[in-house]
Amino acid sequence: MINQVKPQQIKQLSILEDDNYKYGLKPSPVLKWAGGKTQLLPEIKKQYPQKLKQGKIRTYIEPFFGGGAVFFDIYSNFEIDKAYLFDKNSELIILYKVIQNDVDNLIKKLSILEEKYLSLDSDNRKDFYYQVRDDYNTFDKKTDANNYRQEWINRAAYTIFLNKTCFNGLYRVNKKGHFNVPMGSYKKPKILNKDNLIAVHEAFKIAEIKHTDFAEVLNYADEDTFIYYDPPYRPISETANFNSYSSLEFNDDEQKRLRDFFVKTSKQGALQILSNSDPTNYIDDPFFDELYKDFNISRILASRMINSKGNKRGKIREILVNNY
Ligand SMILES: C[S@@+](CC[C@H](N)C(=O)[O-])C[C@H]1O[C@@H](n2cnc3c(N)ncnc32)[C@H](O)[C@@H]1O
Repeated sequence: MINQVKPQQIKQLSILEDDNYKYGLKPSPVLKWAGGKTQLLPEIKKQYPQKLKQGKIRTYIEPFFGGGAVFFDIYSNFEIDKAYLFDKNSELIILYKVIQNDVDNLIKKLSILEEKYLSLDSDNRKDFYYQVRDDYNTFDKKTDANNYRQEWINRAAYTIFLNKTCFNGLYRVNKKGHFNVPMGSYKKPKILNKDNLIAVHEAFKIAEIKHTDFAEVLNYADEDTFIYYDPPYRPISETANFNSYSSLEFNDDEQKRLRDFFVKTSKQGALQILSNSDPTNYIDDPFFDELYKDFNISRILASRMINSKGNKRGKIREILVNNY
């Protein structure tokens, strides 16, 4: 009897058919993500190319997508036809593909998780969190994130659940690829943000989301394209290693390989911005000034964790490079 659905309930079950959810909602990042650009957005926006503001850019590419703050801003404010969104983190891509293909069922799953978690006392919440984390770590790490599977709905829901309930919204995995962040101490975490998930689902209708290396940009960059590159930060001091998003390494050789691509896509006519940490905050190290000497470099102020214990914030400079 419990599973019986009355005809008048059918419309309610399909969240996407409700017109209220179709229009007017601005999407924003689904996850808290290291290096998230929400806070720096006002400064980055100031440098958006004129051509984008004039509606002459049709394609947007973000090859280090992460939480995607800049994409959501561009989608909400400008008319673009197509977005290519890439990341090397397969768990992120799996989540975004589920939002793209089956947001309805993802919302149902998250709603169950949220209701359950919030109903528990702190000891039981702890057991629940670590149980979810253990289950999460049994998912097949080698799955091809570019090949959508319906069975990913649980996995995507767990990615959001863990991000909202773990310590500081960190994403960290050990050598085996197992997520190992301890539980956080939020009293009433918002695990399900239905309106935003639906807005993100809408935005992803113009997106090709891909688990791939940034090198893929070469296939899409042309004079109608705007690219925003937000690679893992170069560590700004020995004690503050900010580029531990996952077990992936992004060392100075990678930064140079990226510069080479920045040059190539620039020659293909794309307009582009790149951001990174500024090593001159601490030492006289003109690494990026030399790497991008043929482009326009500016510095903006960001509020960031500035010591190794991660409990002090301060204003430091970040670098923006553009080619126009
Ligand atoms: C600084 S974060 C991006 C933050 C994002 N702009 C935001 O607002 O949340 C860098 C991202 O690059 C991804 N990444 C690292 N190496 C990569 C590579 N070689 N190709 C593509 N993505 C990579 C990481 O998984 C991470 O999500």
